[in-house]
Amino acid sequence: MKSLVTKVALVTGGNKGIGPGIVRKLADSGATVAFTYFKGTAKAKVLEAEIIESRVEAIAIKTNTSNNEEIKAAIDQIIAKYGRIDILVNCAGSLIPKKTPLDASDEILARIWQRSLFGAAQMVSQLTPYLSEGGRIITIGSCAEQHSGFVITGNYATARETLAIYTRYWSQKLARKNITVNIVQPGLIDTRHIKGIPDRILDTVALKRFGKPHDVGNIVSYLASKKGSYITGATFTIDGGLYV
Ligand SMILES: NC(=O)c1ccc[n+]([C@@H]2O[C@H](COP(=O)([O-])OP(=O)(O)OC[C@H]3O[C@@H](n4cnc5c(N)ncnc54)[C@H](OP(=O)(O)O)[C@@H]3O)[C@@H](O)[C@H]2O)c1
Repeated sequence: MKSLVTKVALVTGGNKGIGPGIVRKLADSGATVAFTYFKGTAKAKVLEAEIIESRVEAIAIKTNTSNNEEIKAAIDQIIAKYGRIDILVNCAGSLIPKKTPLDASDEILARIWQRSLFGAAQMVSQLTPYLSEGGRIITIGSCAEQHSGFVITGNYATARETLAIYTRYWSQKLARKNITVNIVQPGLIDTRHIKGIPDRILDTVALKRFGKPHDVGNIVSYLASKKGSYITGATFTIDGGLYV
């Protein structure tokens, strides 16, 4: 059912990996979808054309979510074109592993926190004044924060755990505008990040398969719909039973 007709969604990092799974599900539900990309212009343009071909409004906007002025410009562009924003999905980010919490330089730490936390936090701060009453904020975190025993992802997991804390804070603060705020924490999703991952890791997933971007898109579109209206401050793990 087209549960999001009349809604305008903004998905950051919509062009690659998990992002297109979210963009497509929101568009399938009838939402107009603006999505940002950083370096992947070609993929973004192909996805934009695909969504428009399916008779849903879409626009791809080049935005570095680490840059406050670019965030502001993206919001202004969407408001100028569609007049409103109802749904924000913070998906931009990337795994920057390799260094443990004990051996990362200040520069690497700053990059990790910038990509895994500050971009999403800035997006929420800047967008909140424009977000419609009854709006939705859905952040893609990571279940790495539940498994910080993954030594190489320790810094990333820490930044992602902070996003979960922010989510609970925002949910309290924005409830007066009836805006719900939730976090979805994927496990191992079939993107470039899990290429070449050893079989012993797949063995730790109860369902014995990696998730697909649309698996994440399904829960995002549910939370964005009216059915999600009494869910806020919540954390959803979507990992096929990793380490259960
Ligand atoms: N894949 C997994 O298994 C997994 C598991 C748990 C959590 N996650 C989280 O899910 C999110 C998406 O991951 P993914 O696997 O889809 O990653 P991905 O394939 O590397 O895609 C990352 C996306 O973020 C965008 N991006 C990166 N840095 C950016 C910046 N500074 N400004 C704006 N956009 C930026 C990229 O744009 P360009 O391509 O245009 O550069 C791309 O659209 C991330 O937050 C990641 O931490 C992923």
